[in-house]
Amino acid sequence: DAVGTDPFEVAAVAAQEIAAATGVSAHDIALTLGSGWAKAADLIGETTHTIPAQEITGFSAPALAGHAGTLRSVLLPSGKRALVIGARTHYYEGHGVRRVVHSVRTAAATGVKTMILTNGAGGIKESWTPGTPVLISDHINLTADSPLEGATFVDLTDLYSARLRELARGIEPTLDEGVYCQFRGPHYETPAEVQMAKTIGGHIVGMSTALEAIAARQAGMEILGMSLITNLAAGIQKTPLSHGEVIEAGQLAEPVISALLARIVAAL
Ligand code: 6GU
Repeated sequence: DAVGTDPFEVAAVAAQEIAAATGVSAHDIALTLGSGWAKAADLIGETTHTIPAQEITGFSAPALAGHAGTLRSVLLPSGKRALVIGARTHYYEGHGVRRVVHSVRTAAATGVKTMILTNGAGGIKESWTPGTPVLISDHINLTADSPLEGATFVDLTDLYSARLRELARGIEPTLDEGVYCQFRGPHYETPAEVQMAKTIGGHIVGMSTALEAIAARQAGMEILGMSLITNLAAGIQKTPLSHGEVIEAGQLAEPVISALLARIVAAL
Protein backbone atom coordinates (compact mmCIF):
# COMPACT_ATOMS: atom_id res chain seq x y z
CA ASP A 1 0.00 0.00 0.00
CA ALA A 2 1.17 3.45 -0.82
CA VAL A 3 2.27 5.21 2.33
CA GLY A 4 -0.18 7.99 3.10
CA THR A 5 -3.12 6.32 1.35
CA ASP A 6 -6.04 6.35 3.77
CA PRO A 7 -7.51 2.80 3.86
CA PHE A 8 -10.98 4.24 4.50
CA GLU A 9 -10.73 6.34 1.33
CA VAL A 10 -9.72 3.22 -0.60
CA ALA A 11 -12.75 1.42 0.86
CA ALA A 12 -15.00 4.36 -0.08
CA VAL A 13 -13.75 4.16 -3.67
CA ALA A 14 -14.45 0.40 -3.74
CA ALA A 15 -17.94 1.00 -2.34
CA GLN A 16 -18.65 3.58 -5.06
CA GLU A 17 -17.49 1.10 -7.71
CA ILE A 18 -19.81 -1.56 -6.27
CA ALA A 19 -22.71 0.91 -6.29
CA ALA A 20 -21.93 1.80 -9.92
CA ALA A 21 -21.63 -1.84 -11.00
CA THR A 22 -24.81 -2.96 -9.24
CA GLY A 23 -27.02 0.09 -9.25
CA VAL A 24 -27.53 -0.67 -5.57
CA SER A 25 -26.70 2.39 -3.50
CA ALA A 26 -26.57 0.64 -0.13
CA HIS A 27 -26.27 -2.88 1.29
CA ASP A 28 -27.63 -3.92 4.68
CA ILE A 29 -25.79 -7.16 5.41
CA ALA A 30 -22.43 -8.52 4.28
CA LEU A 31 -21.28 -12.12 4.33
CA THR A 32 -17.71 -13.27 3.96
CA LEU A 33 -18.01 -16.88 2.89
CA GLY A 34 -15.04 -19.07 3.80
CA SER A 35 -14.32 -22.74 3.08
CA GLY A 36 -17.55 -24.73 3.09
CA TRP A 37 -19.93 -21.76 3.19
CA ALA A 38 -20.03 -20.61 -0.45
CA LYS A 39 -23.39 -22.22 -1.28
CA ALA A 40 -25.10 -19.86 1.14
CA ALA A 41 -24.79 -17.18 -1.54
CA ASP A 42 -27.27 -19.11 -3.70
CA LEU A 43 -29.70 -19.83 -0.87
CA ILE A 44 -30.20 -16.47 0.81
CA GLY A 45 -31.92 -14.73 -2.09
CA GLU A 46 -31.66 -13.67 -5.70
CA THR A 47 -28.23 -12.64 -6.96
CA THR A 48 -28.76 -9.58 -9.12
CA HIS A 49 -25.11 -8.80 -9.84
CA THR A 50 -21.84 -10.76 -9.77
CA ILE A 51 -18.60 -8.81 -9.98
CA PRO A 52 -15.16 -10.43 -10.42
CA ALA A 53 -13.26 -9.26 -7.34
CA GLN A 54 -10.29 -7.91 -9.28
CA GLU A 55 -12.57 -5.34 -10.95
CA ILE A 56 -13.04 -3.54 -7.63
CA THR A 57 -10.32 -1.39 -6.09
CA GLY A 58 -8.31 -3.18 -3.41
CA PHE A 59 -9.65 -6.66 -4.18
CA SER A 60 -7.73 -9.38 -5.97
CA ALA A 61 -8.46 -12.64 -7.76
CA PRO A 62 -8.69 -15.53 -5.32
CA ALA A 63 -5.37 -16.95 -4.15
CA LEU A 64 -7.07 -20.23 -3.25
CA ALA A 65 -9.04 -22.84 -5.14
CA GLY A 66 -12.39 -23.18 -3.40
CA HIS A 67 -12.90 -19.43 -3.00
CA ALA A 68 -15.33 -17.84 -5.41
CA GLY A 69 -13.38 -14.71 -6.26
CA THR A 70 -16.51 -12.65 -6.73
CA LEU A 71 -18.58 -9.99 -5.03
CA ARG A 72 -22.30 -10.52 -5.33
CA SER A 73 -25.25 -8.30 -4.61
CA VAL A 74 -28.15 -10.42 -3.40
CA LEU A 75 -31.76 -9.32 -2.94
CA LEU A 76 -33.18 -11.08 0.12
CA PRO A 77 -36.87 -12.07 0.33
CA SER A 78 -37.24 -9.39 3.03
CA GLY A 79 -36.20 -6.72 0.53
CA LYS A 80 -32.86 -6.22 2.30
CA ARG A 81 -29.66 -6.27 0.28
CA ALA A 82 -26.71 -8.54 1.03
CA LEU A 83 -23.17 -8.11 -0.23
CA VAL A 84 -21.57 -11.53 -0.54
CA ILE A 85 -17.81 -11.44 -0.37
CA GLY A 86 -16.42 -14.58 -1.97
CA ALA A 87 -12.93 -13.14 -2.13
CA ARG A 88 -11.01 -13.09 1.12
CA THR A 89 -7.44 -11.89 1.39
CA HIS A 90 -5.69 -13.96 4.04
CA TYR A 91 -3.10 -12.51 6.36
CA TYR A 92 -0.67 -15.27 5.42
CA GLU A 93 -0.57 -13.98 1.83
CA GLY A 94 1.73 -11.32 3.21
CA HIS A 95 0.09 -8.25 1.67
CA GLY A 96 -0.44 -6.64 5.06
CA VAL A 97 -3.41 -6.24 7.35
CA ARG A 98 -4.94 -3.33 5.40
CA ARG A 99 -5.56 -5.65 2.46
CA VAL A 100 -6.99 -8.29 4.82
CA VAL A 101 -9.68 -5.97 6.20
CA HIS A 102 -10.40 -4.02 3.01
CA SER A 103 -13.50 -6.11 2.24
CA VAL A 104 -14.92 -5.39 5.70
CA ARG A 105 -14.25 -1.67 5.38
CA THR A 106 -15.78 -1.70 1.89
CA ALA A 107 -18.88 -3.41 3.28
CA ALA A 108 -19.12 -0.72 5.95
CA ALA A 109 -18.75 1.97 3.30
CA THR A 110 -21.67 0.46 1.36
CA GLY A 111 -23.85 0.91 4.45
CA VAL A 112 -23.65 -2.57 5.94
CA LYS A 113 -24.64 -2.78 9.60
CA THR A 114 -24.43 -6.58 10.07
CA MET A 115 -21.22 -8.40 9.18
CA ILE A 116 -21.27 -12.18 8.96
CA LEU A 117 -17.79 -13.72 8.99
CA THR A 118 -17.42 -17.43 8.23
CA ASN A 119 -14.46 -19.75 7.88
CA GLY A 120 -13.30 -23.34 7.82
CA ALA A 121 -11.21 -24.11 10.88
CA GLY A 122 -9.67 -26.76 13.10
CA GLY A 123 -11.43 -27.93 16.25
CA ILE A 124 -9.88 -28.41 19.68
CA LYS A 125 -12.99 -29.93 21.28
CA GLU A 126 -12.98 -33.65 20.47
CA SER A 127 -16.79 -33.77 20.33
CA TRP A 128 -16.72 -31.61 17.20
CA THR A 129 -16.67 -34.05 14.31
CA PRO A 130 -15.70 -32.69 10.85
CA GLY A 131 -18.68 -30.89 9.37
CA THR A 132 -19.83 -29.31 12.65
CA PRO A 133 -20.75 -25.61 12.44
CA VAL A 134 -19.82 -23.59 15.52
CA LEU A 135 -20.66 -20.04 16.59
CA ILE A 136 -17.65 -17.87 17.43
CA SER A 137 -18.18 -16.44 20.92
CA ASP A 138 -14.90 -14.51 21.16
CA HIS A 139 -11.40 -14.60 19.72
CA ILE A 140 -7.74 -14.63 20.60
CA ASN A 141 -5.72 -12.77 17.99
CA LEU A 142 -2.35 -14.52 17.74
CA THR A 143 -1.14 -12.62 14.67
CA ALA A 144 0.54 -9.92 16.78
CA ASP A 145 -0.99 -7.47 14.32
CA SER A 146 -4.02 -5.17 14.23
CA PRO A 147 -6.00 -3.44 11.51
CA LEU A 148 -6.08 -0.33 13.69
CA GLU A 149 -3.35 2.21 13.17
CA GLY A 150 -2.22 4.84 15.63
CA ALA A 151 -4.01 5.63 18.88
CA THR A 152 -7.32 3.98 18.01
CA PHE A 153 -8.49 2.37 21.24
CA VAL A 154 -11.47 0.26 20.29
CA ASP A 155 -13.45 -1.76 22.86
CA LEU A 156 -13.80 -5.44 21.92
CA THR A 157 -16.27 -6.54 24.62
CA ASP A 158 -19.10 -8.55 23.03
CA LEU A 159 -17.23 -8.38 19.69
CA TYR A 160 -19.25 -11.36 18.44
CA SER A 161 -22.77 -10.17 19.14
CA ALA A 162 -24.52 -12.12 21.91
CA ARG A 163 -27.81 -11.02 20.32
CA LEU A 164 -26.92 -12.58 16.96
CA ARG A 165 -25.65 -15.77 18.63
CA GLU A 166 -28.98 -16.08 20.44
CA LEU A 167 -30.79 -15.48 17.17
CA ALA A 168 -28.73 -18.25 15.52
CA ARG A 169 -29.50 -20.65 18.36
CA GLY A 170 -33.16 -19.82 17.90
CA ILE A 171 -32.78 -21.31 14.41
CA GLU A 172 -30.57 -24.24 15.44
CA PRO A 173 -30.62 -24.94 19.20
CA THR A 174 -27.80 -27.50 18.99
CA LEU A 175 -25.28 -24.90 17.77
CA ASP A 176 -22.23 -24.95 20.03
CA GLU A 177 -19.89 -21.99 20.40
CA GLY A 178 -16.22 -21.43 21.05
CA VAL A 179 -13.28 -19.06 21.16
CA TYR A 180 -11.51 -18.68 17.80
CA CYS A 181 -7.73 -18.37 17.74
CA GLN A 182 -6.35 -16.67 14.65
CA PHE A 183 -2.87 -17.91 13.83
CA ARG A 184 -0.88 -16.40 10.98
CA GLY A 185 -0.54 -19.63 8.98
CA PRO A 186 -0.28 -20.79 6.27
CA HIS A 187 1.19 -23.81 8.03
CA TYR A 188 -1.12 -25.57 10.44
CA GLU A 189 -0.21 -25.39 14.12
CA THR A 190 2.10 -27.79 15.88
CA PRO A 191 0.47 -30.00 18.52
CA ALA A 192 2.25 -27.86 21.15
CA GLU A 193 0.72 -24.70 19.72
CA VAL A 194 -2.70 -26.33 19.77
CA GLN A 195 -2.17 -27.23 23.44
CA MET A 196 -1.20 -23.61 24.08
CA ALA A 197 -4.36 -22.41 22.34
CA LYS A 198 -6.40 -24.79 24.49
CA THR A 199 -4.64 -23.68 27.69
CA ILE A 200 -5.29 -20.00 27.03
CA GLY A 201 -8.98 -20.59 26.40
CA GLY A 202 -9.22 -21.36 22.68
CA HIS A 203 -11.53 -23.92 21.08
CA ILE A 204 -11.10 -23.24 17.33
CA VAL A 205 -7.90 -22.62 15.33
CA GLY A 206 -7.85 -20.82 12.01
CA MET A 207 -6.14 -18.31 9.78
CA SER A 208 -8.73 -15.57 9.30
CA THR A 209 -11.67 -13.70 10.87
CA ALA A 210 -10.20 -12.11 14.03
CA LEU A 211 -8.49 -9.21 12.24
CA GLU A 212 -11.61 -8.73 10.12
CA ALA A 213 -13.83 -8.69 13.21
CA ILE A 214 -11.69 -5.98 14.79
CA ALA A 215 -12.06 -3.81 11.67
CA ALA A 216 -15.80 -4.51 11.61
CA ARG A 217 -16.13 -3.41 15.23
CA GLN A 218 -14.13 -0.26 14.52
CA ALA A 219 -16.63 0.45 11.74
CA GLY A 220 -19.50 0.00 14.20
CA MET A 221 -21.00 -3.13 12.65
CA GLU A 222 -22.69 -5.95 14.55
CA ILE A 223 -20.81 -9.20 13.96
CA LEU A 224 -21.84 -12.83 13.63
CA GLY A 225 -18.94 -15.28 13.37
CA MET A 226 -19.27 -18.94 12.41
CA SER A 227 -16.66 -21.65 11.87
CA LEU A 228 -17.09 -24.89 10.03
CA ILE A 229 -14.96 -27.46 11.83
CA THR A 230 -13.29 -29.24 8.89
CA ASN A 231 -10.95 -31.34 11.04
CA LEU A 232 -9.62 -31.58 14.55
CA ALA A 233 -6.45 -29.58 15.21
CA ALA A 234 -2.97 -31.13 15.15
CA GLY A 235 -2.37 -33.51 18.03
CA ILE A 236 -6.09 -33.65 18.87
CA GLN A 237 -6.63 -35.51 15.63
CA LYS A 238 -4.09 -38.36 15.46
CA THR A 239 -3.61 -38.32 11.69
CA PRO A 240 -1.66 -35.62 9.82
CA LEU A 241 -3.63 -32.63 8.49
CA SER A 242 -3.94 -31.95 4.78
CA HIS A 243 -5.45 -29.12 2.79
CA GLY A 244 -7.22 -31.73 0.68
CA GLU A 245 -8.96 -33.12 3.76
CA VAL A 246 -10.01 -29.61 4.76
CA ILE A 247 -11.48 -28.91 1.30
CA GLU A 248 -13.25 -32.27 1.20
CA ALA A 249 -14.83 -31.79 4.63
CA GLY A 250 -15.97 -28.35 3.50
CA GLN A 251 -17.59 -29.76 0.37
CA LEU A 252 -19.37 -32.50 2.30
CA ALA A 253 -20.78 -30.11 4.90
CA GLU A 254 -21.54 -27.30 2.47
CA PRO A 255 -25.22 -28.04 1.67
CA VAL A 256 -26.17 -28.42 5.34
CA ILE A 257 -24.28 -25.47 6.81
CA SER A 258 -25.12 -23.17 3.90
CA ALA A 259 -28.81 -23.92 4.41
CA LEU A 260 -28.39 -23.20 8.12
CA LEU A 261 -26.70 -19.87 7.39
CA ALA A 262 -29.46 -18.97 4.94
CA ARG A 263 -32.08 -19.58 7.63
CA ILE A 264 -30.11 -17.39 10.03
CA VAL A 265 -29.87 -14.59 7.43
CA ALA A 266 -33.61 -14.83 6.83
CA ALA A 267 -34.18 -14.27 10.55
CA LEU A 268 -32.01 -11.14 10.80
CL1 6GU B 1 -6.04 -27.29 12.30
N1 6GU B 1 -5.55 -24.82 11.79
C1 6GU B 1 -5.71 -23.67 11.13
N2 6GU B 1 -4.97 -22.62 11.51
N3 6GU B 1 -6.56 -23.50 10.13
C2 6GU B 1 -7.31 -24.55 9.78
C3 6GU B 1 -7.19 -25.78 10.42
C4 6GU B 1 -6.27 -25.87 11.45
N4 6GU B 1 -8.07 -26.65 9.85
C5 6GU B 1 -8.71 -25.96 8.90
N5 6GU B 1 -8.26 -24.71 8.85
